[in-house]
Amino acid sequence: MKKNFCKILALSALLTCCTSAVAQQSYEFSLDTKKIGAPVQSTMYGLFFEDINFAADGGLYAELVKNRSFDFPQNLMGWYTFGNVDVRKDNSPFERNPAYVVLSDPGHEHKRTGIENEGFRGMGFVKDATYRFSVWAKNMNTNEAQKIRVELINSKNDIIANQEVTITSNDWRKYDVTLTSQETEEKGRLRIFLASKGSVALEHVSLFPSDTYKGRENGLRKDLAQALTDIHPGVFRFPGGCIVEGTDLDSRYDWKKSVGPVENRPVNENRWRYTFPHRFYPDYYQSYGLGFYEYFLLSEDMGAEPLPVLSCGLACQFQNGEEHCHVPVGELDSYIQDALDLIEFANGPVTSTWGKVRAEMGHPAPFNLKYIGIGNEQWGKEYPERLEPFIKAIRAKYPAIKIIGSSGPSADGKEFDYLWPEMKRLEADLVDEHYYKEPEWFLNSANRYDNYDRKGPAVFAGEYACHDYSRGKDNNFKSALYEAAFMTGLERNADIVHMCTYAPLFAHVEAWQWNPDMIWFDNLHSMKTPNYYVQQLYARNKGTNVMKLTMNGKPLTGQNSLYASAVFDKELNGYIIKVVNTSNEAKDIQIELKGAKKNQTFTLGDCVSMQDNNLNTINTLDNPQNIVPEKTTAILNGNTLNIKAEGQSFNVYKIRF
Ligand code: AHR
Repeated sequence: MKKNFCKILALSALLTCCTSAVAQQSYEFSLDTKKIGAPVQSTMYGLFFEDINFAADGGLYAELVKNRSFDFPQNLMGWYTFGNVDVRKDNSPFERNPAYVVLSDPGHEHKRTGIENEGFRGMGFVKDATYRFSVWAKNMNTNEAQKIRVELINSKNDIIANQEVTITSNDWRKYDVTLTSQETEEKGRLRIFLASKGSVALEHVSLFPSDTYKGRENGLRKDLAQALTDIHPGVFRFPGGCIVEGTDLDSRYDWKKSVGPVENRPVNENRWRYTFPHRFYPDYYQSYGLGFYEYFLLSEDMGAEPLPVLSCGLACQFQNGEEHCHVPVGELDSYIQDALDLIEFANGPVTSTWGKVRAEMGHPAPFNLKYIGIGNEQWGKEYPERLEPFIKAIRAKYPAIKIIGSSGPSADGKEFDYLWPEMKRLEADLVDEHYYKEPEWFLNSANRYDNYDRKGPAVFAGEYACHDYSRGKDNNFKSALYEAAFMTGLERNADIVHMCTYAPLFAHVEAWQWNPDMIWFDNLHSMKTPNYYVQQLYARNKGTNVMKLTMNGKPLTGQNSLYASAVFDKELNGYIIKVVNTSNEAKDIQIELKGAKKNQTFTLGDCVSMQDNNLNTINTLDNPQNIVPEKTTAILNGNTLNIKAEGQSFNVYKIRF
């Protein structure tokens, strides 16, 4: 844990007096204040969202009912039934979700008919909180109204809320009712049973907490969406990742199916349900309830630039051979049209076909889309030959839109070396690089961009995370600290690195396929990892311009285990300096603000630090505060900032004019 800075100062003073022979080494950094460097893009630090680890359905999307429309291939997956329950597909009100259930009298006074939904590893209910139940229903009897009883159940099978709903109409109609939970329960269920003698049809059974993020009906889980907003992301990449590509083209993410009324958005299988044989999740589907409209809205709410990524016509290349399962180059028209239509959906006037869809969903104003990604982790000649016609069509119709191409699944190697020149040839605006690498790579790569070609496309570090295999790839402090060290290199090179996003974002503790992840959650709680806080410290302290910070004339890329970067910030009217010490010894550092005007005075602003003597420390749902940024201090002496960077620490210092 963080040591007391004052005590250390006193102790080191004492040691200096008593044992002058043991002089503590100190390090001299120089911040060149004469030249304000390249702008740091507003998009510099952002978020990458993918529906992996139950991040969308069962996670950020606040719907509590799994398979709410009965349209999973096994229609009753997620549901328990009792009595006389029939699945039908004729005359559904929703063309793209045809299945529904009919609950009928079981034919005995002491028998019951009903259905129970298990939620996503249970349903989380909070005492005194309210939940909006809704259902599309039809009374199948002509003479008398039918009743259903709706109940919230706890893990002991007790009823913790209930309401009766009368189904009056012989036509499909939406009914809703609010339930107040009497208990807090992490593993709850929803039960509906027929409370009259007759038959009733039920379709699109939904249960949301009333208290969603921004109070929206088809809303997001508040704690999770708030955690994203609190980062202050500059860009929001969605909806993936590999789900953009799909295991095959049928299972790719199709944005057009993800907009319009939620009841009519068809179910898509989630490719992560069977990607890893040791982590099968047969019940992992995408309801598309969290669709492109909701992603645009969330971007807007967070103040982040939306960055949608679309299929380029290549299904996941890890899972498909060269000719197998891809769209032939000459047959890409509908895919290219999808990209053009998406731009129209986001930016077009309400009179345009897709702008009208957006307006009807509640957002007549454009979303002001500026970026689009075409393809995720693609490689080989298959990719540029498909990307090219997309680029031509987008440039022709929407010349202001910036196009992001891929450099493949790895940050180096044959595919990477082939694709970067191809992206230059095609004049992509940004190139997406992915690196899931071991700790040493992060330590050794802080200079990665120092000598990148400044003339080509800019860099989007679209997916990265430090994978500490020795610890089962958990979100330990080491991974976060080494990411912080590496990120000084992103910041120093903000003239060409215009965006970076950690990956993946979310994981349900009981239903994850991939780790590490930035935020973990169960049905009631969420936990921010040390990696989250590193991202947050960068995003909230990104500044407006890069400043030159050196030691012995060189950028700090790991000499003496020290990494550092600095920015100027217009709003602060001062500098923000980030220093990472990856050794286990504290380091005394003097940072001279070189070139400052003679009578210029500086004041010290807020300073924060993340530090732990144990690199294996993690945050958990029970102890989410093991590692969090804490206030620290430093001494500003004229033009010199004196700091003590504790062993294994990431520090952020602010200096105002
Ligand atoms: O973030 C998890 C996966 O890693 C993404 O879907 C993919 O792009 C990468 O391989």
